[in-house]
Amino acid sequence: MATFQAPKGTYDLIPPVSVKYLAVREAIAAPLRNSGYGYIETPGFEDVGLFARGVGESTDIVSKEMYAFETKGGDQLALRPEGTASVLRAALEASLHKKGNLPVKLWYSGSYYRYEKPQKGRYRHFSQVGAEAIGAEDPALDAELIILADQAYRSLGLRNFRILLNSLGDKECRPVYREALQSFLSGLDLDEETVRRAEINPLRVLDDKRTDVQKQLVGAPALRDYLCDACKAYHEEVRTLVTAAGVAFEDDEKLVRGLDYYTRTTFEFVHDGLGSQSAVGGGGRYDGLSEMIGGPALPSVGWALGVDRTVLALEAEGIDLGIPAATSVFAVALGEEARRVLFGKVTELRRAGVAADFSYGGKGLKGSMKDANRSGARLTVVAGERDLAEGVVQLKDMESGEQAPVALADLVDAVRARLA
Ligand code: HAM
Repeated sequence: MATFQAPKGTYDLIPPVSVKYLAVREAIAAPLRNSGYGYIETPGFEDVGLFARGVGESTDIVSKEMYAFETKGGDQLALRPEGTASVLRAALEASLHKKGNLPVKLWYSGSYYRYEKPQKGRYRHFSQVGAEAIGAEDPALDAELIILADQAYRSLGLRNFRILLNSLGDKECRPVYREALQSFLSGLDLDEETVRRAEINPLRVLDDKRTDVQKQLVGAPALRDYLCDACKAYHEEVRTLVTAAGVAFEDDEKLVRGLDYYTRTTFEFVHDGLGSQSAVGGGGRYDGLSEMIGGPALPSVGWALGVDRTVLALEAEGIDLGIPAATSVFAVALGEEARRVLFGKVTELRRAGVAADFSYGGKGLKGSMKDANRSGARLTVVAGERDLAEGVVQLKDMESGEQAPVALADLVDAVRARLA
């Protein structure tokens, strides 16, 4: 019979590697929880129009990479390619912004889907942990998010990442720059698709990775020279606050990002050990997104960090997270009566909060001890008929190899004392 495999561009998270993903998600979430961000979860799919309008028709994400489909009921939906539009949609729908407690600070963790050409670090199903601070225009909020992402990466032991920072201007100054850039681009020799992109979102042409395009872009007008005074002052304040926190960054005026909703602050976290898919996270301010999806003006800022790429970054730096074994005690029972008694003891240990596992499947001593070793447990409890007749079990320390009988009634206390 035919067997099945994970779809192209996807992979399964399986033990023992899967614990790393949990640890990374937890490490990114911890500083957010500690900074006033509340947890939000939204559906895996949304009305396709939310992303078309929010993320932008001209982006690769919407025009080429979206898993869009019609349901049997005739709804036009899409698997979410990113989290920001969904989170803002949910906040608006629940009127979180009307409760007088702006900014609304939210964090999330989940799966996202993009029909991309798969390669190392680029998948069709991937996971992000993200944060959005909705409804406040305050450079300290932009700085907070950059500082928290830095803290998250550092808590994992990562060192070889860089923070790229830019400002994309606002609705006052960006249109002036846009026009100047468009008129510059119209004088270049570009392919049809790029010409079309130049018409819809000329800033994204600056992001073109092809060398023949980059060559022609030398001498293009720089956004820096067009920023209005308000945007300049805002950006300076973000830079000052991030610097004061001791977080290093690089100014990168080429940083445009692949989503259309950004205004003012944009940033990206890149890791130097990942090859071409080097962005481990990114974000920025999106002051106009709420209005784009039918809400009131709600200036906001956020980021999303890629869990898959963060795990790759850990591997690139050779970082062992030192995750302790999940099981502390492993019970090996020899014979029917011992099985019954020890199974009861395992239940008791678990109820007492001790991570315990049991040798299932009626294996002999040798096979069971192999299981005990594999589990990584510090202690093994072994009992056969003779032990039970004496009212004891053998408690073995897997590190020292020492073994001693312990009265059955004292087992839970003895285990706790040894593990303490
Ligand atoms: P993004 O830059 O598209 O931003 O994605 C953020 C991160 O998700 C990337 O830096 C990368 O680590 C990871 N990622 C994206 N695509 C893939 C893929 N195909 N395979 C593996 N990892 C991937 C956003 O999604 C914005 N919503 C971030 C944001 C939040 N901006 C404001 N608030």
